[in-house]
Amino acid sequence: MTGRCWAVVPAAGAGARMGSATPKQYLSLAGRRVIEWSLAPLLRLDEMATIVVATSAGDPWWRDIAPGSDKLRRVDGGARRQDSVLLGLRALETVADTDDWVLVHDAARPCLPDEDLAELLSRVAADSVGGLLACPVRDTLKHASGDGRVDRTIPRDDLWQALTPQVFRYGPLRAALESAAEAGVEVTDEAAAMERAGYSPLLVPGSPVNIKITRPGDIALASAFLEGR
Ligand code: C5P
Repeated sequence: MTGRCWAVVPAAGAGARMGSATPKQYLSLAGRRVIEWSLAPLLRLDEMATIVVATSAGDPWWRDIAPGSDKLRRVDGGARRQDSVLLGLRALETVADTDDWVLVHDAARPCLPDEDLAELLSRVAADSVGGLLACPVRDTLKHASGDGRVDRTIPRDDLWQALTPQVFRYGPLRAALESAAEAGVEVTDEAAAMERAGYSPLLVPGSPVNIKITRPGDIALASAFLEGR
């Protein structure tokens, strides 16, 4: 990728599935906080201009851990992930050009390999739409009937699990998220907003170690991945 790029890191979630009072992005992990690990590969990019971190309003954790970098800027996030990302994008309005690339990465994904990020940026640089890291689904998928039993098996061919970062151009991504918000449509990642706007994001194969901290056992898993590097 040539030229500058921007990033938005949604970090305003409460992480209810973790069952801890501290949101998952601020939990301790291999000597640092989860979010510090998530930000580190983005901060290592030479072309990164500014990383907007969207935290909940009145977040008491961010100021204690904010890694010292003048590339970081904090804004208040929103009720859903898509709202937090949109608020982060709006904060870049006066500095980002419509064709600039914006990378969106979950604060709760601390194991992003530098090689995956480099591969994503180089593949996307040659693409008109943009894309995302993703993993082909490896297990057989079952659909549940509601009573805890299987009612059918879903063919996994052509199914991918979406990861982050996801990288799109500022103008089209912002327009896609503004449009979803206006229409009251829920989109669980940036690619879904772009698909709704008629684009076909590029799938860039990424490592399955790039997990999103979601459940209590994930901290031990992420710690094993990071310490094994
Ligand atoms: O809850 P989930 O695992 O989908 O969250 C993914 C990312 O989105 C996390 O980094 C979380 O902090 C962020 N998020 C947010 N604003 C919300 C909900 C989640 O920034 N309202």
